[in-house]
Amino acid sequence: MVYEGITSVIGNTPLVRLSRVYEDLQVQLFAKLEAFNPGGSIKDRAAFSILGNALATGEVRSGTTVIESSSGNMGIGLAQACAYYGLRFICVVDPKTTKQNIQILKAYGAEVDMVTKPDLQTGEFLPARIRRVQILLRQIPNSYWPDQYSNIFNARAHHQTMHEVVTALGGRVDYLFCSTSTCGTLRGCAEYVRAHNLKTKIFAVDALGSLIFGGLPKKRLLPGHGAARQPGLYRPGLAERCIQVSDLECIIGCRRLLRSEAILAGGSSGGILMAVERVKDEIPSGAICVALFPDRGERYLDTIYSDPWVEEHFGEVGPLWQQAGEAQECSTMIS
Ligand SMILES: Cc1ncc(COP(=O)(O)O)c(C=O)c1O
Repeated sequence: MVYEGITSVIGNTPLVRLSRVYEDLQVQLFAKLEAFNPGGSIKDRAAFSILGNALATGEVRSGTTVIESSSGNMGIGLAQACAYYGLRFICVVDPKTTKQNIQILKAYGAEVDMVTKPDLQTGEFLPARIRRVQILLRQIPNSYWPDQYSNIFNARAHHQTMHEVVTALGGRVDYLFCSTSTCGTLRGCAEYVRAHNLKTKIFAVDALGSLIFGGLPKKRLLPGHGAARQPGLYRPGLAERCIQVSDLECIIGCRRLLRSEAILAGGSSGGILMAVERVKDEIPSGAICVALFPDRGERYLDTIYSDPWVEEHFGEVGPLWQQAGEAQECSTMIS
C-alpha cells in the first residue's frame, strides 16, 4: 500500500491482543498502540484535526505562526503538522520537558520557548506556559493558538479512534480504558459511543494528583496524563468510572508490559494496565476490553526504563514488577 504523504499515515493503528500479561484473565484484553502514529503518539490525530480545521476555516493560512504550550506529545504532533504544512511553530515548554523531546521538536523545525518559573500561586508550570502563549500571541501578528485543552477538534479526532476500535472488533466493545489530560480522547470516544448507541463502558485513567476529576494536587513526575486544572473539553458523565494511578504504578505497569508482551510503551500506558488490573475481576467473564496506549516508551528511557532514575525517586522497587497494583478509585464518582 502506498500512502499520499505523512498525514495519511496517521491513525489506523494496530489493535493487539494482550494474552501474556495476566495468566488468569477472564476477559479479552486488547491494546490499541498509538505509538504507531508517525509522530509517535495519539496526539498526531489531535494536531492534524485541529490544524486541518483551522486551515479549512482560514484561521490558519500561509504565514501563520502556530503557538502552543506543550511539554511533550502534542508539541511533537503539532511540530510534525506545521512542518508538513510549511508553518512556523513556537512550542512553549518548561524545565520538565525532556531533552529528547526538545531535540525532536527542534528536528521538526519548531522554535522552543522555555518558561523558567512556575506559576507563583499554584506552583505549576501550566498556568505560566499559558500566560507566555498569550504574550506571544499579542506580540506576533497572524498567530494562532490551537488551545488543545478546549478545542473541540481535539476531541473530534477521536471519533475516528473509536471507530477504528469498534470496526476492528466487529462492533462490540464492552469496556474502554482511556487515559486523560486534555480529555480530548475521552470526550471524542464517549461522543462516538453515544452517537452510535453502543453499550461500551468507558473507564477514565488519570494520574494521582491530577485535578481533572477533583481531588487534591500532588507532585507528579511523569508527563503525559493528568492535568493541573479541569480542561475546557471535560464534561461530567463522559466516563463511567475514573481510576487514578500513581507514577510508581505507571512504572510497574510499563515494566510488566515490556516483560510479558514485549511492548515498550509510555507511562500512561503502564498506568492503564494497572487500572485494568484493579478492576479486571469485577468485569464479567468474556467481556471485550480495549486499552488505548497513547505513546511509545523510547521517550521514557531516561526515567521509567532507567533503573538508577527509578531507584533515586522510589527506592528499591525491582520486585514490584511482579506484585499486584494499588490503583485507587477517584474519590469523585462521575455521573
Ligand atoms: C502519554 C499521554 N497519555 C495520555 C494523554 C491524554 O490524552 P488527552 O489529552 O486526549 O486526554 C496524553 C496527552 O497528551 C499523553 O501525551
